[in-house]
Amino acid sequence: MFFGGDYNPEQWPEEVWDADVELMCEAGVTAVTVGVFAWSHLEPSEGEYDFAWLDRVLDRLHDGGIKVVLATPTASPPPWFTLAHPEALPVNADGVRLTHGSRDTYCVSAPAYRLAARRIASELGRRYADHPALAMWHVHNEYGTDCRCDLTAAAFREWLRARHSSLDALNEAWTTAFWSQRYSDWAQIMPPRATQYLPNPAQVLDFRRFLSDEMLSAFVEQRDLLRGLNPSTPITTNFVQGGWVSVDHARWAGEVDVVAVDHYPDLSDISAEEQTAFAGDLARSWGRGSWLLMETAPNLIFTRGRMHTKEPGRLARQSLSYVARGSDGAMYFQWRQPRGGAEVFHSALVPHAGPDSPIFREVVDLGTRLGALSSQLEPTEIPAEVAVTWDAPSWWALQGAGLPSAGIDYLAAVQQTHRALFRAGIPTDFVFPGTMIDLSAYRIVVVPHLYLVSDEVAAALRDFVASGGHLVVGPLSGVADPFARVGPGGYPAAFRHILGVRVTEWHPQDPGVPVHLDDGSTAFGWAERVELIGAQALARYTEGTLAGEPAVTRNGTAWYVSAGLDDAGWERMLRTIAAEANVPPVLEGLPPEVEAVRRGQLLFVFNHSESEASVKLPSAATDAVTGRFLGTEITIRSAEALVARLEKPVGTPTATSASSE
Ligand code: GLA
Repeated sequence: MFFGGDYNPEQWPEEVWDADVELMCEAGVTAVTVGVFAWSHLEPSEGEYDFAWLDRVLDRLHDGGIKVVLATPTASPPPWFTLAHPEALPVNADGVRLTHGSRDTYCVSAPAYRLAARRIASELGRRYADHPALAMWHVHNEYGTDCRCDLTAAAFREWLRARHSSLDALNEAWTTAFWSQRYSDWAQIMPPRATQYLPNPAQVLDFRRFLSDEMLSAFVEQRDLLRGLNPSTPITTNFVQGGWVSVDHARWAGEVDVVAVDHYPDLSDISAEEQTAFAGDLARSWGRGSWLLMETAPNLIFTRGRMHTKEPGRLARQSLSYVARGSDGAMYFQWRQPRGGAEVFHSALVPHAGPDSPIFREVVDLGTRLGALSSQLEPTEIPAEVAVTWDAPSWWALQGAGLPSAGIDYLAAVQQTHRALFRAGIPTDFVFPGTMIDLSAYRIVVVPHLYLVSDEVAAALRDFVASGGHLVVGPLSGVADPFARVGPGGYPAAFRHILGVRVTEWHPQDPGVPVHLDDGSTAFGWAERVELIGAQALARYTEGTLAGEPAVTRNGTAWYVSAGLDDAGWERMLRTIAAEANVPPVLEGLPPEVEAVRRGQLLFVFNHSESEASVKLPSAATDAVTGRFLGTEITIRSAEALVARLEKPVGTPTATSASSE
């Protein structure tokens, strides 16, 4: 069980370090991530190293029984590096070369940067590979940096040559006949840079795929040299999610020993718990069952525009929610709140107020609870029978310019279907069309905004339905091929025959204007003209030019939702399909805003509501933290989290269903 966070002792005088270790022991901290941004302290000038301070830090931590996740510091090259190698500074799409003074000021394709990164990583590796405190290597920090310089351009061309069999094939894939963009030499191809009007969408898409592969190769370089020094220490890098990040984490997941994820909810009401559940399910799916929360903010939520201090109990609920969804612990950014620097007000386990503070008291309490749970956590067994598709390239394609509506939001669409399942209490996985596709474990697959679809993915979904699976497709799915070329004959070209529908027109709506359906549902933002070619209409539009036309359809076990259904509509629909497909929630009859997640024999119950709630358990249970016998029904206070250890093994029929048989 990892419990701790980013620890930056280089920001503090040495006398604070002893206090740090004492406080870590008091809080039950088991591991800290060290050295993430310490390059300029480790290598003060080119080729001159100072490891003495890090030796003392690691030894102190080891003496305190605290494990170290040791980072390579390559996300933030020191000023001496960028002055010596100005060509390794990133250039943005406007051609502006950035300057050091923040972090991430490097170009991942610059040979000088790659060499310097390998050098510092191997120096660290040689010195600490066998240190007894070392638990894991943490390569770099949040890969995601973007650069459009000439070095990047050269690397991009190499990548394109490997991807496209010939220049003709690239011209075809990128539809360069449009606006006279035909390339007659590889050297003419550029990264997307500031240009006169809309850029070529296939060029933008391939560039983002290239960036993902290019950063992955930088990770793999460091991974392999660290692995060579000590093959038994697991190696990870922390994934960050965000629309600006050109990293296809589903493809990366196979290259790390442990999937580690940073997650910062950015809404302050119960939506933050929904975001937490979403990130936890996504990370578990990347990690095929196991993963680690590497960073989250312990006491704050940075909402869009201001920080929100978490209410009492929220740290524990959110942290345990990640653990319930398979995380091997909870790590935070960061241990001690800094005295200065760009993130001086960012969250910490030891805040500016010091340990005599509400957050540190909650941290100590959480440390005790996680300590008690650690020996009881089994490898994740969260038997989800529902999967939602997640596809980074579709997200990137739907961020482009020139789309039919400015309101298209891939992430929001995926989160909305996940939220509906969360509210229905149904365990959910994600599947990744770019790397999969084994759907045999699932009864229901939900496909929101899967804009780009290859023939293989279309075939896998067709086979899934043919073998009795329930498929629910939302709008803007199956529209284009992997190069963003629209399939002819009506949308959604890849899925028309599975769904038995043909869409002849799109009718994007103004934001906030409701579209009503005749089953009482309401939609926003999106509507379509749907022809039935085998499907039956389950709901029809009631007004405007689409009045009387199908809106939601069904073709055997394949559903199509052409409208931008609201949350209630999605929840109702997915509950109905789950009932038909025999997919139960974790617990029946939960009160509103009470969440239950099962991990092996442990049942995590979270009361996000403002009132006390009673919950019937599927069998008698004990409190996994205190060992107290709970019986078969618990009362859980507002804002509390409770972990119950069920007496019956997983899969044993519950008392109710057993007696009704
Ligand atoms: C990221 C980074 C951290 C820190 C936090 C706070 O996750 O990895 O270094 O900047 O965000 O926003």
